[in-house]
Amino acid sequence: MSDPDRRDASLDLTEEQLRSLLAGVTLLTEQEVAAARTGPVFAHPPCAMEVDRIVGAERTLPVDGESVGELLAACAAVLAAGRRTTPAFFGYVQSPPAPVAVAADLLVSAADQNLTSWRSGPAAAAVEHQTLRWLGELVSFDAAATGILVSGGSAANLTALLVALRAVTGPDEDRRTMRVYASAETHFSVAKAAAALGLGLQTVGADRDRRLDPAALRTAIASDRASGLSPICVVANAGTTSTGAVDPLDAVATVADEAGVWLHVDGAYGAPAAAVPAHRELFAGLHRADSLCIDAHKWLYAPVDCSALLVHDPAATARAFGAGADDYVRVLATQPAETFAFWDHGLELSRRFRALKLWATLRFHGARRIAAAIGEDISLAAHLAELVAAAEDFELLAGPGLSICCFRHAPADLDEPALDAHNERILQRLQRDGRVYLSNATIDGRFALRACITNFRTTRADVERVLTVVRELAG
Ligand SMILES: Cc1ncc(COP(=O)(O)O)c(C=O)c1O
Repeated sequence: MSDPDRRDASLDLTEEQLRSLLAGVTLLTEQEVAAARTGPVFAHPPCAMEVDRIVGAERTLPVDGESVGELLAACAAVLAAGRRTTPAFFGYVQSPPAPVAVAADLLVSAADQNLTSWRSGPAAAAVEHQTLRWLGELVSFDAAATGILVSGGSAANLTALLVALRAVTGPDEDRRTMRVYASAETHFSVAKAAAALGLGLQTVGADRDRRLDPAALRTAIASDRASGLSPICVVANAGTTSTGAVDPLDAVATVADEAGVWLHVDGAYGAPAAAVPAHRELFAGLHRADSLCIDAHKWLYAPVDCSALLVHDPAATARAFGAGADDYVRVLATQPAETFAFWDHGLELSRRFRALKLWATLRFHGARRIAAAIGEDISLAAHLAELVAAAEDFELLAGPGLSICCFRHAPADLDEPALDAHNERILQRLQRDGRVYLSNATIDGRFALRACITNFRTTRADVERVLTVVRELAG
């Protein structure tokens, strides 16, 4: 390094390289948005050998670099081999990102503010707090909500159970007797979180509509107490993954309240539907939960990853995570707002600026339009359920629940076991076909095709195509 103003091994680009790289990235971004608009779900059915060829899986570690053009071409090939969340993609719970959110996320990478604390990104920290409040208001949980943004529903549920644990027990208490309560319809991330924390999970009965039964919950808590166990938390669902069931939140809140246990609502998928006036009643009592998770990458049209854990009580997260950080991060500011540290409220230290994409979407489109988009998703699921119910060769197995419809192709000549195999075969073909994409659910022991509509681009024509394509692939 003879020149004191230059490093030999700088990773910076020349002005010309930077311009050409960013122009290429803009082009690829436009192509991805266009691909999500028009489909197909796959450019080609995925095949591991082909993917290895695209990635150059055999290549050894590059010792010397390559040009901007070569890099962009390699990235384009990788992106083109991906699965697109097209208007006829109805698998799992996956919304396409709103273009505004995509742009905001690109900016987040460019600015790379590490949201450990207010000190690291003062305005970014304020944006995160505001986004949490806006979300709380959007779903009528709490317009003064606080909490934290984490990577996804699994991380939010784990964080919530930790917060619950600290809210109702001391740090040295024996966890082996502690119990969490949820219905069998609850997402498996809750069982994973309970296991990780050494808490027992009790399954509580549900009604015919797969909603947690408050009477069974009351009995389970009382009987566990009587046998010396310590109930600490109830997890209720605001939209189950399989069928979109919303537990009777008000009645469940009453039971949790009487029992003195924490109530966490897993609204990772379904809570945004509480923003839709026509469906708000289904979520009555949501505001009585102690904590609520909502995944913005599921039904608020944000790119992965962004999940909010909302709480009413700002001290709740601090009780769980605020115990003594290392000296090297000690905050020297004295103004209360400026001393705020996210590490006192969650598990992560380094954190991506996840709020901007959601904040930008809420600002740009406004709550009314977002609620309308969610409402249309729900209407389309109802339309699919009507089509299924009206078709002689289809059977509606569950729903519609929020934006989910579970059904099967049921030709008259097939018996029960044959129907499971038949529909499993259809799903395998469908997931490689690319025109329409469904996933599966088990409904009362039966294999179901499951459509979950969380796409602001989906139309009635897309939904109507489901039956045509399933019939064709069943042949
Ligand atoms: C109700 C519910 N909770 C939690 C999760 C887990 O969310 P994530 O995939 O963001 O970890 C899911 C995922 O589908 C879900 O549907």
